[in-house]
Amino acid sequence: MTRPVITFENVSKEFKLSKLRVRSLQEMFVSMFKKELRGKHRFWALKEVNFTINAGETVALVGTNGSGKSTVLKLISRIIDPTLGIITVSGRLSALLELGAGFHPDLSGRENIFLNGSILGLDRKEMTKKLDAIIDFADIGEFIDVPIRNYSSGMQMRLGFSVAVHVEPQIILVDEVLAVGDYNFQLKCLNKIREMQKQGVTILFVSHDFEEIQKLCDRAIWLNRGEVMAEGSTDDIIKAFMDIYQSKEGQDSFPQSGVIPIVEQNMVTSDVGI
Ligand SMILES: Nc1ncnc2c1ncn2[C@@H]1O[C@H](COP(=O)(O)OP(=O)(O)O)[C@@H](O)[C@H]1O
Ligand SMILES: [Mg+2]
Repeated sequence: MTRPVITFENVSKEFKLSKLRVRSLQEMFVSMFKKELRGKHRFWALKEVNFTINAGETVALVGTNGSGKSTVLKLISRIIDPTLGIITVSGRLSALLELGAGFHPDLSGRENIFLNGSILGLDRKEMTKKLDAIIDFADIGEFIDVPIRNYSSGMQMRLGFSVAVHVEPQIILVDEVLAVGDYNFQLKCLNKIREMQKQGVTILFVSHDFEEIQKLCDRAIWLNRGEVMAEGSTDDIIKAFMDIYQSKEGQDSFPQSGVIPIVEQNMVTSDVGI
């Protein structure tokens, strides 16, 4: 029997974009003289997104850069709130989002394991029980006692993934970051993901590696410019995605009705984002 664990009902997310990003004192003074750049404008990163993910499914979220994939994962993790719409999530969730997310740069890897545990609602005693397994899996040697700010991106990913999979999640979100791991560690992660699939964990997976997606995912949802373009079997969605982006026409114009036979959701009416 299917049981929904993540549902998005007409979810939209608006961001306020500052036209000028001030990075230094010098830039701040410059910006004071450039009045026209000081205004803010609004931007819809997601527009009326609807989908349901059932218990035990592994679903891929695909789409070009900026299509809204990470925004969906952040909304599910409640790092940000939707501007409109309803999101329902049931079950203990752990997430591997951007590198370093959830880590404090000044604390060591070991201290960050406990910090993450408390964020996920696990007390020190429970985390102490899991500590050896987390450190073993991450396999970063003595760096475990070094502040995270001195970690390479691969090391941050190792520790982040290890924590995320050892806290017994019922739902796990993985955003692109696996790609920064070396070959061996990526294989280790994929094996761990397969193990979690067997245990019935619900997985939402963002990756640009279509081979990996085809091997792992039951289903795929395609986001384009903040809208669900299509959802369906992984093979159908990847084929439709490749057809559009590999064809010259796909880069110049938007897909016409009927081009994608598996479309179940709203077809975009603007051009396809690259
Ligand atoms: N905090 C934010 N403030 C303003 N704009 C944002 C913010 N987060 C994301 N965006 C914008 O929302 C859009 C979707 O971003 P994102 O979800 O990160 O895309 P993806 O993960 O598919 O590459 C992008 O145009 C991005 O610039
Ligand atoms: Mg992203």
